[in-house]
Amino acid sequence: MDKNLIFQPLTFRHLTVKNRIFRSSVTGRWDNYDGSGTQARVNWENKFAKGGVGAIISSYVPISIEGRITPNVVTIDCDERIPFWQTVGETVRRYGCKYIIQLSHSGRQRDIEGIENTQTLKKGIKPLPAPSTTNQADQINGLPANNMSTAKVRAIIQDFAQAARRAKEANLDGIELHSSHGYLINQFLSSAINQRTDEYGGNLKNRYRFLQEIVGSIRQVVGDDFHLQAKISVREFNNIIPPWEKSGNTLQEAIQICQWLEDDGVDAIHVSRGSTFPHPLLPSGPFPYRMLRYTYDTMTSSGGKSSFRNLILFRYRFLWPLFQLIWGRLPRKIEASYQQPVSGLEIEAQWLDQYFREHVSTKEFQQLLNKHQGTVLRDAKEIKQNLKEIPLITTGGFQQASYINQAIAGEYTDGVSMARTLVANNDLVHQFQQGRDIAARPCTYCNECLGAYLELPLGCYSLDRFYQRSVANLTGMEREKATREAEEARTREVMTVFTPPPKPYIPAME
Ligand SMILES: Cc1cc2nc3c(=O)[nH]c(=O)nc-3n(C[C@H](O)[C@H](O)[C@H](O)COP(=O)(O)O)c2cc1C
Ligand code: SF4
Repeated sequence: MDKNLIFQPLTFRHLTVKNRIFRSSVTGRWDNYDGSGTQARVNWENKFAKGGVGAIISSYVPISIEGRITPNVVTIDCDERIPFWQTVGETVRRYGCKYIIQLSHSGRQRDIEGIENTQTLKKGIKPLPAPSTTNQADQINGLPANNMSTAKVRAIIQDFAQAARRAKEANLDGIELHSSHGYLINQFLSSAINQRTDEYGGNLKNRYRFLQEIVGSIRQVVGDDFHLQAKISVREFNNIIPPWEKSGNTLQEAIQICQWLEDDGVDAIHVSRGSTFPHPLLPSGPFPYRMLRYTYDTMTSSGGKSSFRNLILFRYRFLWPLFQLIWGRLPRKIEASYQQPVSGLEIEAQWLDQYFREHVSTKEFQQLLNKHQGTVLRDAKEIKQNLKEIPLITTGGFQQASYINQAIAGEYTDGVSMARTLVANNDLVHQFQQGRDIAARPCTYCNECLGAYLELPLGCYSLDRFYQRSVANLTGMEREKATREAEEARTREVMTVFTPPPKPYIPAME
């Protein structure tokens, strides 16, 4: 097989990307509270461009303050943000990397609403209900929702169009609509969430209308030749917590949505899954109890009705099996029966770092790959076969060159997007270019980065990847010392995002 399929350019209607690897969105909270961007964000994006990816899909970028999932992420809600985004685009373009901005609105699915989205009552400060397609709070954190008026629906469509205009004025290379993972557009699309009785609810055509009108309004503002793609959860698996909840859109419904998107002028589909974020099936892997035990307290000030319950569940280890009974239900059912459609080369011990292997053996790592790589690939092929010509990007666990090549060669997808696997190895694409099939210290899908995002700088927190020496024959104090060294190496790596530091300037005198 031609190993360099990864390095063939991918041509969309109005955009060519130099290879088949996209950095998938990974939200990190390192911007200012008001939604202005920081040097850390520029440094973060620079890492992946330098590491060789063909294109970067930004993290979740709110089109309005009300549409944030949390404060401290850069927005695109006003024209003052344009110069920042221009800087981000210029930074990554130096490496021939394209920059696609993910336009997003949280709807009811917020993590921390931020002071602007609260109301001050005598009995306390409470979150304002977020605009949605239902009055039901979100499944995980329980932040309140409001089935919004038609006038509000139209206003949000215009917010998307204005954000798109700013993206084009910032000279970015394209837009991705975050229509997956349970955020606002997904709240319209979903048969399980949408409870509207007007032209935006009910049958699939009506549920699609919001997305269709966003696409139409964006096209009116940016023209027909600006790259526009949509990330879609092609199966929703919505019945996570109470199993009696509806399971949401089926693959057949997703195929229809993607066909309409193609007819309505969208240039690519990014295939994902799940009607919430996080979801037991995406990012796949264990629930990060240890990390959330440390970080989840941040969520309790947000006032979601389930936040305090969750805090108790994560804080006390004896309750973890109880939560696992619920969270693990879908993976037990779905992952257990998943047949890999393609396979990469079998992992050889010498490909992996010797210290890493002391913590994750070659066999254990092979099993992790078998379980978590290409989890949405079969569905992606179904979508691809039902589209006329627009390319497909697929997310979900990719990190092995031979596997990605097989996926492209077998026409399961045209490109792949990678999130955690690039957080672990920012330069993985360069490593592929140099002939490596997998990184020596690969991502173990442990999800500690996901648990860290709320409170800590985003980065890889898996200690197994950071040992600096063998611990095989160490005991007691010596072993503790080696572990301490690993922790320090991990912290050093995470903190690299703050270099170079921002340059303070003196404000003008009034
Ligand atoms: C910490 C973290 C933050 C994420 N933030 C976003 C986001 O802002 N938007 C989005 O569409 N997906 C987000 N994702 C999902 C990823 O983009 C990706 O689809 C998913 O993690 C599967 O890819 P992977 O197995 O390579 O991580 C996030 C994932 C992680 C781990
Ligand atoms: S913490 Fe590191 S190893 Fe674990 S999933 Fe995240 S990137 Fe991968």
